[in-house]
Amino acid sequence: MPLIINDVYPKKLFREDGKRLDGRENNEIRPIKMKVGVISNADGSAYLEWGNNKIYAAVYGPREVHPHHLAKPDKGILRVFYRMATFSVFERKRPAPGRREKEISMIITDCLEPVLFLELYPGTAFEVFIEVMDADGGTRCASTTVAALALADAGVPMRSLVSAVAVGKIDGQLITDLSGIEDKAGEADLPCAITWFNEELSLLQFDGDMDLDELNESLANAKTALNEILQIQLKALKSKYTTILEEQEGGES
Ligand code: CDP
Repeated sequence: MPLIINDVYPKKLFREDGKRLDGRENNEIRPIKMKVGVISNADGSAYLEWGNNKIYAAVYGPREVHPHHLAKPDKGILRVFYRMATFSVFERKRPAPGRREKEISMIITDCLEPVLFLELYPGTAFEVFIEVMDADGGTRCASTTVAALALADAGVPMRSLVSAVAVGKIDGQLITDLSGIEDKAGEADLPCAITWFNEELSLLQFDGDMDLDELNESLANAKTALNEILQIQLKALKSKYTTILEEQEGGES
């Protein structure tokens, strides 16, 4: 049963023992699992479970641009389609893509574009389809992370991976990786994404209230979490190839 019903939030976001409602320490990220190569019809794909979030990403391209007028003669384009399934949230979501989904698609495009060599693919498009099957806070960050992994799985040349996480503040304390309830009932939410090749933030949004020292500390907390997330992405990418190797070696013996 979700913790938020009819927009009534719990009064406290910390338990008696000082832990968060889901039992985490302030700077602990939720459990994350990632797998690549999960959709056979895509050029590249990835699946992610991040806490209660469950998200697929599928990549196609470089391929012809439809509608043609969107094509650019001097470079390729990246198109991202973030969608939330009707059943992915407690209150039924309308099936048609809404303003929020369009905004998040645009944000994810901006996060991923800097790592691609779009100038090498004039007149074509890379398309990334993201389907959120189950949502519980931080889906734009989780989607950016899984989309970067799907691009890498597709063999698209990239300057580096991109990782993302939200940090923020609840009940006066700084925390890492907000759950849905912390996102809604907390005081501040800062989704961030990093492009690893230059270690620059390709996403920094801010919703809420915190002072400058808290902002600096939050960004340091984000950097630590982003490093953890990168390791999980790398492990998921490598495990596809180690599995293939193990299968081949098993077949030869
Ligand atoms: O998911 P993210 O935190 O990036 O975006 P948000 O717009 O701040 O949404 C926070 C959370 O609210 C989502 O992750 C969902 O769990 C929930 N949500 C919802 O219940 N119904 C919607 N129509 C949209 C979001």
